[in-house]
Amino acid sequence: MGKKMLEVRDLKTKYITRFHEDVYAVDGVSFSIEEGKSLGIAGESGCGKSTLALSMMGYYFPPLHYISGDIIIDGQNISGMNPDDVRKSILGREIAYIPQAAMNALNPTQRIIRFVEDVIRAHDPKADKKEIRELAEARFAELGLPPTVLNRHAVELSGGMKQRTVIAVSTILNPKVLIADEPSSALDVTSQKMVIKMMRELMEKGYIKSMLFITHELPLLYNVTDDIMVMYAGQIVEKGTAKEMVFDPVHPYSHGLMGSILVPEEGTRGHKLTAIPGTPPNLKRPPKGCRFADRCKYATDECRYYTIPEKSFENDRMYRCLKRVDELKEVYSHE
Ligand SMILES: Nc1ncnc2c1ncn2[C@@H]1O[C@H](COP(=O)(O)OP(=O)(O)O)[C@@H](O)[C@H]1O
Ligand SMILES: [Mg+2]
Repeated sequence: MGKKMLEVRDLKTKYITRFHEDVYAVDGVSFSIEEGKSLGIAGESGCGKSTLALSMMGYYFPPLHYISGDIIIDGQNISGMNPDDVRKSILGREIAYIPQAAMNALNPTQRIIRFVEDVIRAHDPKADKKEIRELAEARFAELGLPPTVLNRHAVELSGGMKQRTVIAVSTILNPKVLIADEPSSALDVTSQKMVIKMMRELMEKGYIKSMLFITHELPLLYNVTDDIMVMYAGQIVEKGTAKEMVFDPVHPYSHGLMGSILVPEEGTRGHKLTAIPGTPPNLKRPPKGCRFADRCKYATDECRYYTIPEKSFENDRMYRCLKRVDELKEVYSHE
């Protein structure tokens, strides 16, 4: 086993709404990523992916609140750390986070070099302007971005270029963990490919030591990350290698996200997705039994009302369902 870059243990966080209601958006999530590895997180909108990303940074402010659990980055437990210390010594340097739609949040009146200065000066207030520029130019060139981009304003860049710029700037301090929330979702297919290629380059060149890639499209992760977890209603319902999860999903929710059986030789090309009927549950009042039961074709009353599925394991695969893998495969084979 390689060295663990990130370990999350039984993390629970919630939103407290204006009406003082609790929304349990991350409800007992555990996983780890080793050095040099990438992990995908997939699930429909509203399943808690972005909240998990925010929660993993240990940087909480209302309405998001920490409940319990550990976040360990390269051996350092950051849960319970003072938010100011997290901002100064962890964010950007140990763990970098690219929020959903980050590229649209760039201040349009600032030149790109100013964002680089901000990231570097957050940790080293006296950093020299000339050295920052040299570092940025070298990194941009290495990642296939023209260094002239540094003199441009965000509004002058195309969507794909803006997103690649955000990624290059966010990782300038070589973080141990990069969390990218839907980094390719708003882009055309060509730009998507370039963004994914760049993230892999960052890993290969060792500028980032591990990566979490969040998306609502499970098939997109094939050939992008080593492993995949599927998240539903604040919990991880299945985890396995990317190949297993895409070609041989076990949990009925993962199976539903894939839509239909794939042919391994053809990859996910031309694969049509069919939406799963219904919507994820309201996390103010999570369902009593299995959280997916009311949308699951195979659910029984046992699943709906009586037994909460704990984690089951089949070799290295984790899944949260009352049924056995062979039972599930049997039903899938008749579809
Ligand atoms: N600021 C907030 N206040 C209260 N509830 C929120 C807030 N942001 C998100 N939620 C709720 O938390 C749940 C998870 O949301 P989110 O993490 O954004 O999911 P995803 O990224 O998978 O689409 C949803 O039920 C959503 O309505
Ligand atoms: Mg999200």
